[in-house]
Amino acid sequence: MWGPEGLDEVEAELLGPPEELKGRDVLELGAGAAQCSRWLAAQGARPVALDISHRQLQHALRIGGAFPLVCADAGALPFADASFDLACSAYGALPFVADPRLVLREVHRVLRPGGRLVFSLTHPVRWAFPDEPGPEGLSVSGSYFDRTPYVEQDESGHAVYVEHHRTLGDRVRDVVASGFRLVDLVEPEWPAWNTAEWGGWSPLRGSLIPGTAIFVCVRD
Ligand SMILES: C[S@@+](CC[C@H](N)C(=O)[O-])C[C@H]1O[C@@H](n2cnc3c(N)ncnc32)[C@H](O)[C@@H]1O
Repeated sequence: MWGPEGLDEVEAELLGPPEELKGRDVLELGAGAAQCSRWLAAQGARPVALDISHRQLQHALRIGGAFPLVCADAGALPFADASFDLACSAYGALPFVADPRLVLREVHRVLRPGGRLVFSLTHPVRWAFPDEPGPEGLSVSGSYFDRTPYVEQDESGHAVYVEHHRTLGDRVRDVVASGFRLVDLVEPEWPAWNTAEWGGWSPLRGSLIPGTAIFVCVRD
């Protein structure tokens, strides 16, 4: 699943035709509980699920799956050059790092020539709107161009959650400057069947403004 709209890889085929996934080495970045790796393994691919959070990987372990789990920072990948055919990430790692080019260059390094990276994140335009599912989430409340990160702190002032904003143009430049060719930028539309409301996600907002941006990148 690429995002809250409900676009899944069966429908999107952004990693290529499903029958060609068999035997492919795939790196999932910011895997969380490794839902994507579990699906990839079921297609006959050979995923490796990577996350910086040990706790998330414990959930992955509990749910199960016959693929490796790796606890590491996406900005310092513990793999040899040219180890993977594909890399993917659904809302993982990239929105949470101050230097996304570090991550992208690392992914470029571990991909084989011709390899593909597909990653999704919150559509940058959402940054300008309150994260509310109702009509209040439809009025601009801040500058789209303000790159100040969103930070939550605990009572002792330590950052416990940080999300970084980049404009759409920033993201394109990050991809290109890291050596990738951008071949598609998918903005899934909110489908009629999806009536779910979750956090700032809702059919109301989804029908009017994009919520997810999916970047399809090739390492030539
Ligand atoms: C919003 S969750 C997405 C999880 C999963 N991809 C999904 O679709 O449910 C973001 C994940 O990125 C991980 N993450 C954040 N920064 C990271 C980093 N620098 N390296 C690796 N993983 C990171 C978090 O631990 C978290 O599991």
